[in-house]
Amino acid sequence: MQVTIRRALEADVQAIAEVHVAAWRETYRGILPDETIDRLTVSARARYWAEAIIDPAISVFVAEADGRVVGFGSCGGARQQLLTTAGEIYAVYVLKRFQYRGVGSRLMATMARALAEAGHVTVGLWVARDNLAAIAFYRTLGACTGAARSHAHGRGDAPLIELAMLWDAAAELTLWEEPANQPLPGRMLPGRGERSPWGAVHTTVPGACRPASGVLPRG
Ligand SMILES: CC(C)(COP(=O)(O)OP(=O)(O)OC[C@H]1O[C@@H](n2cnc3c(N)ncnc32)[C@H](O)[C@@H]1OP(=O)(O)O)[C@@H](O)C(=O)NCCC(=O)NCCS
Repeated sequence: MQVTIRRALEADVQAIAEVHVAAWRETYRGILPDETIDRLTVSARARYWAEAIIDPAISVFVAEADGRVVGFGSCGGARQQLLTTAGEIYAVYVLKRFQYRGVGSRLMATMARALAEAGHVTVGLWVARDNLAAIAFYRTLGACTGAARSHAHGRGDAPLIELAMLWDAAAELTLWEEPANQPLPGRMLPGRGERSPWGAVHTTVPGACRPASGVLPRG
């Protein structure tokens, strides 16, 4: 099955919203309160994505299989200094039955390229501390852990603890693109590191990806 990664179009809004809600339900039971998950609606998500897709500060990509959206990602400038990176991956979601096929890593690589091309050299994201599968995925892609933050998801809900996952250079993540795309020039050294599905060796410069303070903000 061929999966294509491409920039999202306005015509994709409904499909992205549907994948968003489905992926949340598949991912966050047991991590977020049930009410938070149940509150999420396709129509509300569609309103959000309709605005995001036309926002020049946000890049949205979809993964498409047989003409259907099976995953998506969005990125742009970091929204909070605590992340410590210039660029931020706001979302990356792949429907469960399409996971473990390289779709997520290709979405990450495509977003990293978009961020690097927009001048955002460093990349980070926030992940729920209890989303161990996603943390394992980011670690496979070479992330190190940065700060933690406490994020209120809804009135009355226990705050969600999120961890920053950081990459020193967006260029490192582009190694997970398909072989047809050349990695961006960056700090890619031979030796220690992970091997991408395409055989490229990912390495970080020793000591360059330093965890941030890790202090939880109050409130
Ligand atoms: C996290 C997610 C985007 C990964 O996408 P994916 O398409 O399954 O990942 P890939 O197939 O590209 O995996 C790339 C590498 O990460 C590893 N990996 C992926 N998921 C993993 C997991 N749950 N545990 C351990 N390793 C994992 C893969 O084994 C692969 O390494 P390999 O090539 O050495 O085998 C996807 O699982 C997902 O959408 N999860 C639910 C939503 C979510 O949690 N999003 C993140 C919110 S912050």
